[in-house]
Amino acid sequence: MQYSQKVIDHFMHPHNVGKMENPDATATEGSPACGDQVTMYLKIEPDKHTIEDISFLSYGCASNIATASIITDLAKGKTLQEAKKITWHDAVEALDGLPPEKTHCSVLASDTLQAAISNYEITHGFKEVVNFNKDTILEELEKVIYPQVGEDTFPSSW
Ligand code: FES
Repeated sequence: MQYSQKVIDHFMHPHNVGKMENPDATATEGSPACGDQVTMYLKIEPDKHTIEDISFLSYGCASNIATASIITDLAKGKTLQEAKKITWHDAVEALDGLPPEKTHCSVLASDTLQAAISNYEITHGFKEVVNFNKDTILEELEKVIYPQVGEDTFPSSW
């Protein structure tokens, strides 16, 4: 498996790693593809809603650590609206690529960022809690990527 130098650098020397004391929001997400997890913590500037600080803990592979590291770099200093647009594609591009079978690691990192933002919005009254229903379950299943080949396992047309 061939990793870019950037992936190796972020794995060996991850940025923004560690548990945050008194975060304004947090989220832990697990990958349905492999069972690995990431926790992210956010500190939000309350007037402009910018991400003042962000950190993560990884319970997973080298790509899990590298993608969480680069996602936190991409999100830091952004407004919540800007950070909501950060996708796993952005993480992969910023890392100069990932092996296809590791794509789901970047999906986990971006999902965790989005879940932490959602946690902030819900706990601060900007968003309603969404209860699970058929649509939200199908939405989650659409993110499942077959880890051995890095392809969607679920047709998005469902
Ligand atoms: Fe599961 Fe990388 S996050 S193998």
